[in-house]
Amino acid sequence: MKAPIRVAVTGAAGNIGYALLWRIASGDCFGADQPVILQLLEVTPALDRLRGTILELEDSAFPLLAGIVGTDDPQVAFAGVHAAFLVGSRPRTKDMDRADLVRANGPIFVGQGAAIGAVADPNVKVLVVGNPCNTNALIARANAKNLPSRQFTAMTRLDQNRAEAQLALRLGTTVSALRNVFVWGNHADTMYPDVSQATVDGKALGPLLDAAWLKGDFIQTVATRGKAIIVARGASSAASAASAAVDHMRDWVRGTGDRIVSMALPSEGWYGIPEGLVFSFPCRVDAKGAIQVIEGLPLDDFGRARLQLNVDDLDAERKAVADLL
Ligand code: NAD
Ligand code: LMR
Repeated sequence: MKAPIRVAVTGAAGNIGYALLWRIASGDCFGADQPVILQLLEVTPALDRLRGTILELEDSAFPLLAGIVGTDDPQVAFAGVHAAFLVGSRPRTKDMDRADLVRANGPIFVGQGAAIGAVADPNVKVLVVGNPCNTNALIARANAKNLPSRQFTAMTRLDQNRAEAQLALRLGTTVSALRNVFVWGNHADTMYPDVSQATVDGKALGPLLDAAWLKGDFIQTVATRGKAIIVARGASSAASAASAAVDHMRDWVRGTGDRIVSMALPSEGWYGIPEGLVFSFPCRVDAKGAIQVIEGLPLDDFGRARLQLNVDDLDAERKAVADLL
């Protein structure tokens, strides 16, 4: 058996936490031979609820679960962690955009970023799920400048998964037939799901579908799916969000081979995106866990214009949280 790794999950007593912790503890994320110690962070008023979650985790008798810590202290939660899922934050309601949460949730990522920089393992992989996740990742990164910026990512994998599901439905196939669907930009209504590199059963996917649908209903359905779920469920997506977080971290830790996946990370100027903005790019991850942004992919006028909408919004969010950076 390998030595256990330490994994932090914030907002662990919340809805996403309730789905995510079981997937991590079962081995779905880090592998069937990788024991984990869960380090769970909550706000003080939620510690009783967190204790209930921990009791249930114990009762699940996972062979890979080597320990559980529950705390309201970020210095304890992030101590020595190799991976951190930053979920804890308020979800929007159906009358809000995700960006409306930036002043309510942004400050959470100042202290958590600083604690990660101070006490986490120096190679820690950070995935921000709490919304608005791109700008919250920007804040966490800005408060942990001692760590490389490529260790801070935000989740657009749920958007990629939604895009794959819509394409599979349209083509009358399953997502297992699809490869290399990815999403550009912000986890917001402006996002751009791109099928230019996608294949179905090894054949180019684009020519098989109506261009008007791809630029119209397809993008609209994927981009507004979060709101559709909030309206239908009365609560924001939870199980699918947890599943996407597992997909993102699993690919980051174990590598993607030659598959293209979506990860939002601080731009280093790729595709002309301003430095530092946390932007979703087409990525691969090598066997050592290093993220490579795939450069040089073609973008038509429609795609360029769509990327610019994301830059404009992310720039505005960056200005709105300048005091937190
Ligand atoms: P939830 O309200 O069920 O749970 C959030 C938990 O976070 C609560 O238990 C709360 O006590 C805790 N929390 C709040 N502030 C905290 C802090 N400072 N430290 C630690 N814990 C804290 O919400 P949820 O449904 O689990 O969603 C969590 C977040 O994830 C929301 O912001 C939601 O919008 C976002 N989300 C993102 C995606 C994505 O694709 N990026 C998908 C779904 C949800
Ligand atoms: C989602 O995409 O489901 C989440 O970001 C929740 C939301 O606010 O839409």
